[in-house]
Formats: sequence, structure tokens, C-alpha cells
Amino acid sequence: MSIEIPAGLTDLLKGYTVEVLRSRPPDLVEFAIQYFSRLKESNTSRPTSRPLNLTQSQTERKVVSFEEDAQPSELSADEEDDEFSDELHFKPPPPKFNRRVSVCAEAYNPDDDVDDGNEPRIVHPKADQQRQRLQEACKDILLFKTLDPEQFSEVLDAMFEVLVKPEEHIIDQGDDGDNFYVIERGVYDILVKKDGVNICVGKYDNKGSFGELALMYNTPRAATIIAKQQGALWALDRATFHRLIVRNNANKRKMYEAFVESVPLLKSLELSERMKIVDVLGMKSFKDGELIISQGDEAHCFYIVESGVVKIMMKSKTKAGPMANEEVEIARCSRGQYFGELALVTNKPRAASVYAVGETKCLVMDVQAFERLLGSCKEIMKRNIASYEEQLVALFGSSADLRN
Ligand code: CMP
Ligand code: CMP
Repeated sequence: MSIEIPAGLTDLLKGYTVEVLRSRPPDLVEFAIQYFSRLKESNTSRPTSRPLNLTQSQTERKVVSFEEDAQPSELSADEEDDEFSDELHFKPPPPKFNRRVSVCAEAYNPDDDVDDGNEPRIVHPKADQQRQRLQEACKDILLFKTLDPEQFSEVLDAMFEVLVKPEEHIIDQGDDGDNFYVIERGVYDILVKKDGVNICVGKYDNKGSFGELALMYNTPRAATIIAKQQGALWALDRATFHRLIVRNNANKRKMYEAFVESVPLLKSLELSERMKIVDVLGMKSFKDGELIISQGDEAHCFYIVESGVVKIMMKSKTKAGPMANEEVEIARCSRGQYFGELALVTNKPRAASVYAVGETKCLVMDVQAFERLLGSCKEIMKRNIASYEEQLVALFGSSADLRN
């Protein structure tokens, strides 16, 4: 008697098995319910897109193949017992997986690339608690700030968890790009080769994201990223990053090209440099009176006002009396003006607080992009420090020490 295996059954079960091996859930039945519910949801809510099918499970197999030799027996008892015991342990992929076969170093033009709605959606099912942690890690990621809620939800669906050990190389400069990474926890050094020597140019400290450049521009990895302690990352595969983030850059360029061109600080840059800035910036809205920067805080971002106004407030230096520690307004910035550069240029804490006046929208760039893309504008910014000092002398009778 011959038994016909229904079309799709093998791939369906393979997809589930792969997820079980990857996530090692404590309860297989509960995990199956979640996995198949999400699969059904993703197939019914997106009628125009190809459901999770052979192509999907092939993609997942590729992901799993990165971890194929991470056998449970290789993990220490501590690692097995810790709260992340059901998560994926990262092993640097063997070179054959790490290197894409062909990489085109041409600048990518998002305008040439349109979603035909027919590409596979990747879904890595997650327990509620896992998804909450993922959402928390992603809430300030600038590249996600211009996605609409449905796109953002697709990004979250596709992300998968990766645990890393101290001194592990997450990315090696020169390699082809596989994933984009969002940091949940851990410290990571950024090394860039100069004259054959690796120089540490910065670090990520328990927040931020990296690995977007190779995926955006089809170039080899531009830096090496090394974990300095045990950490947890969320990875987004190249195809999904391309479909949701890179394509979205076409809209961003259309929306912000003219504005960015009008920003006096960025006038000296080439068009292509300005477009690279647009590609990595995020947009944040603030309500009237909302605190954007707090004096004394560590700095992570640089801002350009897109609409509305912000006021810069500094605590009075009067030590006693009714004015002690009271905030005094020292300046306002409106459309096209920037703020939050001083702490990044001087490596000091924020020199003043900044509040929205009315509804305000700002373009935001993280410190790593600031360092990489605005190096040539730093001289202009440094010159501006003198006018800040003059402002402070006029207001307080003496200047603060604003320089490094
Ligand atoms: P990518 O080139 O894909 O991989 C290495 C990542 O390091 C890069 O993307 C950026 O996300 C990140 N990075 C941080 N600082 C730098 C820097 N100064 N130069 C290049 N890449 C950097
Ligand atoms: P930063 O110190 O990073 O955060 C507060 C910002 O207020 C600062 O960068 C400047 O961009 C801005 N600012 C405007 N006027 C002054 C001033 N007179 N002194 C210091 N900061 C100022």
C-alpha cells in the first residue's frame, strides 16, 4: 500500500523541528501551539505574501546551520541553568556560511527596488516574555523609528535571539554581511583596521545596534565587533532587513533629502554623504514640555530639529538662595538647527537640558553614526563652543568649562 504524503507536510514539520532545535523550549506542545498559531496568523493576515514554505524553512535551516555544532553538551552547567537556557547560543559561523558568494560593492539605490509582496515572511516564534524583552531592546533603535507599526511587527517576528560569550567575534571586518544586530545586553568593542592594525574606535554599552552597513550598501563588513562579556543580541536576517529597512530608505530619502540639504551644518557634505546620514537616522516626536536631554547624563545621540522648537536650559550656578540649582533658559533651536553635539565632541556629560516647546520632531543620529559620518563637520561644531561660552558669560557672569 502506498501512502501519499500531503504536499507541504514535510516542510511544515521540518520548519517546526528546526525552531525546536534552535529555541529548545521547555514545553514542546505549548511551543507547537505558538509556532503554528503564528504561522497561521502570518499566512492569513498577509494574503499577498508567500506563506512560510520551502523557501522559508530553507532560510531557517541556514540560520540553524550556524549553530549546528553548538551541542548542548558544549555548554557549561551554569549556562544551561541560567535564565536564557532556552535561547540560541551564538557560535561564529564557519567561513562557508559566513561568506556570501557574491557581493556587489556598488552603492545600493533603494529606488530601483520595489516589494512585489511575494517574498517570504520569516517568523521565529517567541514566548511572551521573550517578545517583551525583544520589544524593550528595540524601542530606541533609530533604524526602526521610521517603520509603520505593521512593518515593525514583522521585524520583531523575524528576529531571533543570539547569546554571546566574552571575546567572541560577532562580526569580522571584511566579511560579507549576514545579520543586523540589536543589543539586549553586554559590552561590545568596535575595531577598525588602520594601516593593518586594529584600532578600537568605540564601544556599545548595553544598548544600540550594529551591522547595518554591509546589508544596506552590499559592502564587506566595515568594522570588527567583539563581545567583552557575556551578552545577548537579537539578530535580523539579511533578507528581512533588506525587505523592510533598506526599502524603507527610499521613502526616507524622499522625505528628508530636501530638508537635510537645507541644514547649514551639513552644507559642506557631498550629496552621497548626506544620503548616508538620511539612511541611518531616526525620527522622534516630542510633546510640549517633554525632556529630550537631561543635563549631566551620558550622551548617546545627536539631534537636528525638523519641526517645532526646543529650549536649552542650564542649572544656575548659584549655590544658595532661591535661585540655587534653578534651570535658566540659555537658547532655543528651531528647524534646521542642531543640538546634543557638545557632549559627543568633548566626551563629557550633557552640558544642559533640552525640552520640547510645543509638538516637536527631531532627526536623531546615534553616536557611532555621528563619529563615522560627521567627522568633517566637527570643526564647525567645535568653533561653536566659543559662542556657547560667550552666552554663558552673558547669562551667569562666568563661563562653564565646556571644552575637553
Ligand atoms: P557593518 O559594516 O555591517 O558591520 C560592522 C558594523 O560596525 C557596521 O556595520 C556598523 O554598524 C558598526 N560600526 C560602528 N562604528 C563604526 C565605524 N566607525 N566604522 C564602521 N563601522 C562601524
Ligand atoms: P550637549 O552638551 O550634548 O547637550 C546639551 C546641548 O545644549 C549641548 O550639547 C548643545 O548642543 C546645546 N547648547 C546650546 N547652547 C549651549 C550653551 N551655551 N552651553 C552649552 N550647551 C549649549
